[in-house]
Amino acid sequence: MSNKIGIILGTRPEIIKLSSVIRFCKLNKVKYFIIHTNQHYSKNMDEIFFKELNLPKAKYNLEVGSCSRIEMISRMMVGLEKVLLKEKPVVVFVQGDTNTVLAGALAASSLDIKIGHIEAGLRSYDRTMPEEINRIITDNLADYLFCPTSKQVFNLKNEGINKGKVFLTGNTIVDAVRECIKIADKQSIIMDSLGLSKKDFILMTSHRPSTVDSRRHLMAVILATKRLAQKYHKKVVFPIHPRTKKMLDKFKIAIPNEFIVIEPLGYIDMLKLQKESFLIITDSGGIQEESCILKKKCVIIRHNTERPEAIDVGGCVLAGNDDPKKIFNLACRLIDKRVAWINPFGQGKIGEKIIKITLKKF
Ligand code: UD1
Ligand code: UDP
Repeated sequence: MSNKIGIILGTRPEIIKLSSVIRFCKLNKVKYFIIHTNQHYSKNMDEIFFKELNLPKAKYNLEVGSCSRIEMISRMMVGLEKVLLKEKPVVVFVQGDTNTVLAGALAASSLDIKIGHIEAGLRSYDRTMPEEINRIITDNLADYLFCPTSKQVFNLKNEGINKGKVFLTGNTIVDAVRECIKIADKQSIIMDSLGLSKKDFILMTSHRPSTVDSRRHLMAVILATKRLAQKYHKKVVFPIHPRTKKMLDKFKIAIPNEFIVIEPLGYIDMLKLQKESFLIITDSGGIQEESCILKKKCVIIRHNTERPEAIDVGGCVLAGNDDPKKIFNLACRLIDKRVAWINPFGQGKIGEKIIKITLKKF
């Protein structure tokens, strides 16, 4: 058995949220290696984040790419088995709730390798979401569960998970935002290149199958956002996730004139737009968290969230994704509301905390 840490990642949010963990290992000569499943592979969903966040290239790339959920997880597990048998890490880290996370946890547990689950204990209680299944299984297999807030500690206790394995650390997204927002303020030219002024636009993102894989839901969200743009005299900036692009083409949906549709953005430009926006409309998990950190009002186009902290703060509202009137009305109410902002996701150095807790175990 070596004393190496294996870091498994595969999608845009995992690269962003593991960046402070990786950087801490690198700066402090902790032995580690990165395995990239390549669940995300387009340059603007993958490579750009390694560059912007100054991360070393993954030592292994499993080149799994896009396929069905079952094929994806199976191919990832086959690739992971080979690498993990060769490297023999003492522990692997997985982050969040993607197929990459589930494959990582299943492969490591099959090989009797310890698992650290970063962002453990989140629950939407909606088992139609593959992410919910991935979270539940991963939390049950993990040896170290790093929770963003006390809510997840409570969820895990309720599910009978041994409290000795559970650590309240905060969410590494706080590290990423803190490190990159200053760079964004200094370096991003996205506002000028899109012809935007502070608060004259709504920022919208959507990629959840429950919204984008349904023509009716996608139309409901676009229509509500268009009405908001008209009422408040704003533009809508819409960086399109590849899944959403595919579905917009498939459904032949015409984008309203108020919208500026762009390719997915790098992290620096994305943070800049979040910070300068009038309002955010999203079904992204990470953006819900960032909205609390950046003190930006956010309409969540879902019926539930595994991040209830964002709602409790008062700056985010659950508006569903199927009724344009409801989304519009709830957004208007949110815009008029006074919010006493707090950031519930921790005060930083969270990647460092996670590594230090882990190293103490060996
Ligand atoms: C995945 C995660 C989701 C996470 C999201 C982050 C699962 C089940 N889903 O969803 O939890 O919130 O990533 O963005 O793990 N595609 C490209 N280029 C890419 C990646 C994807 O063109 O680099 C297209 C492909 O057509 C692919 C589709 O997007 O079929 C969906 O990709 P996939 O990784 O299956 O799921 P996401 O919707 O990205
Ligand atoms: N993000 C980005 N560029 C974009 C859209 C999102 O950098 O065009 C960032 C966003 O700021 C957040 C993360 O990607 O940090 C969220 O990823 P995503 O919405 O794909 O996944 P989720 O968080 O829902 O799993």
